[in-house]
Amino acid sequence: MSVTVRVPAKVNVQLAVGGARPDGFHDLANVFLAVSLYDEVTAAPADALRVTCEGPGADQVPLDRTNLAARAAIALAERAGLAPDVHLHIAKDIPVAGGMAGGSADGAAALLACDALWGLDTPRAELLDICAELGSDVPFSLVGGAALGTGRGERLTELPVAGTFHWVFAVADGGLSTPAVYAEFDRLTPRAPEPVASPALLDALRTGDATALAATLTNDLQPAAVSLRPSLADVLTAGTRAGALASLVSGSGPTTAFLAKDEESARSIAETLSTSGLCRTARVASSPAPGARVVNAR
Ligand code: C5P
Repeated sequence: MSVTVRVPAKVNVQLAVGGARPDGFHDLANVFLAVSLYDEVTAAPADALRVTCEGPGADQVPLDRTNLAARAAIALAERAGLAPDVHLHIAKDIPVAGGMAGGSADGAAALLACDALWGLDTPRAELLDICAELGSDVPFSLVGGAALGTGRGERLTELPVAGTFHWVFAVADGGLSTPAVYAEFDRLTPRAPEPVASPALLDALRTGDATALAATLTNDLQPAAVSLRPSLADVLTAGTRAGALASLVSGSGPTTAFLAKDEESARSIAETLSTSGLCRTARVASSPAPGARVVNAR
């Protein structure tokens, strides 16, 4: 028997970051939107815990117990009093270390896959608690759609979204370390104000108005990501010149996100960016996308 779970990437349409807390994390007003780039995690019985990975950037994915998919299996097995003897195979399509929550997505997917494989039927609220222990972005990967994350991003309120937003993601060579980007944020922002969700942005999501969303997109981590990787500024400019309604760094980067007015415009921006020499590849995607769900159990 094996269970396969499909899980989306995310973009932060607003990432408001407060000052560092005593525990080292930052309070956030984090508006997540799931996008249609997916990883798939397949769980199958094995003699011992094992992680394998295929797809672009698979060679940069750790296969030991630091992998969030492995940690999810261990956390769930511990709660259920089981041994985490499972083979987790990750089919990767979400950019690795790209600021699109690829690792978090694999954690949420592995949790759901193991829950189904082991027949546990763990209540949703408990799954969300385990996700929050695994990482700040993991609960959102389970939920998908659109949500406001407060606290360190793990406390979610689901948000209504109308229509479809069209995006282009420019994938950079190599990743950026999330802790390093937050440390650079602290250096650049000695007195960060309390993070608050933008009412105009929530309205734009609710009404499906891409132009209004473009006018309200913000990412407080963007100056820090650009400071660590100055070439991102050129990609952002190129996307805007190619017709994007707005350009921003996705999460902690280095993936950059471009909001397009429609699907045709997204394709044309992606083509311009992918031949610009400024990024490794450019991907078209839409949102909202559903959260982690079982797509195959046999
Ligand atoms: O929660 P997660 O493991 O994804 O966080 C990775 C790192 O990102 C943390 O160790 C911390 O340095 C930084 N972070 C933060 N504040 C948040 C979320 C993440 O400082 N709200």
